[in-house]
Amino acid sequence: MRHIIDPTDLSREELDEVIDLALDIIDNREKYSEACKGKKLATLFYEPSTRTRLSFTAAMMELGGNVLGFSDAQSTSASKGETVADTTKVISCFADIIAMRHFEEGAALVSAMNSRIPVINAGDGSHSHPTQTLTDLLTIKREIGRFDNIKIGFCGDLRFGRTVHSLIKALARYSGVEVILIAPDELRLPDYMKYEVCEKYGIPYREVKTMEEVMPELDILYMTRVQKERFLDEDEFDRVKDAFILTPEKLADAKPELRILHPLPRVNEITVEVDADPRAAYFRQVENGKFVRMALILTLLKWAAEGDDKQKLIPEGTVVNEHHCSNRRCISNMENVDRLFRPATDDSGIYRCVYCESKAAK
Ligand code: CP
Repeated sequence: MRHIIDPTDLSREELDEVIDLALDIIDNREKYSEACKGKKLATLFYEPSTRTRLSFTAAMMELGGNVLGFSDAQSTSASKGETVADTTKVISCFADIIAMRHFEEGAALVSAMNSRIPVINAGDGSHSHPTQTLTDLLTIKREIGRFDNIKIGFCGDLRFGRTVHSLIKALARYSGVEVILIAPDELRLPDYMKYEVCEKYGIPYREVKTMEEVMPELDILYMTRVQKERFLDEDEFDRVKDAFILTPEKLADAKPELRILHPLPRVNEITVEVDADPRAAYFRQVENGKFVRMALILTLLKWAAEGDDKQKLIPEGTVVNEHHCSNRRCISNMENVDRLFRPATDDSGIYRCVYCESKAAK
């Protein structure tokens, strides 16, 4: 069974195939209108969502399939203490494919480990959001026509921003990509992303303090919201919440070909005046999310029908129950699951949690 828990679950060739399928769907909507007739998608959303849940729903409807699920875990047996593993075993009896969003990091992986049907991670805490990444890639493809040789500035919350982490991992597969990190000290990209992704895959990166100083060189400006719900300390949130606000004035020196992306929702980090700029691609990006999720559902159901079982959910060298995760939001600290750790991909000798990639606690 194949699942999508992380963008790296797709090879570069498979990523390209999903994007190409999405482009074909855009051009030939009628051809796919019954492609999932008789199939059911379960949307299990333990955390709020507008775009992801409704675009999955619209995607399955446009494919002629049906949708069941929940958008508020309080109305489910999770409120009585049912685990992600047990809920997944139950849903496997009712549906053909699952899209799960959860506030516990690693929840989608635990779901996949216990599932008889494909699981798609629709966002697990601040860890990963692979279908947003596919949305971003399709948008980049449609807006600037290439993934190679791009200079992309990530601005805002690079610490908790799962969409940023997922997109950098996906872009690591292409050549000539350069990353500029624009964030306050409190919201800088985590070290493991710098050392074990950017440096490992040879992506040049640099950290700067303002968007203005790099605006003229950017092909893409990827804005993000400072996410209040991820902060354990409200004072810390108050200190950084207004750190970067994109206005028409700040775009004065930007290239005409620049594209502004944002996974949305926005709060105040892009003023509404920017929306009228043709370089603002974030609402076009939303619609791409539906098309790429159609392509992903079709691909995973095809692989399931073919009995594709080449995915290894637990990496080589994993040790069981020898360490504890340092991340309070990790599912291994919230539910009764085996504690799984793999050696870090650099030579540091540290172990990283298989569920959320945090370091083992000292
Ligand atoms: N981009 C995104 O994940 O939006 P939602 O939280 O509304 O699903």
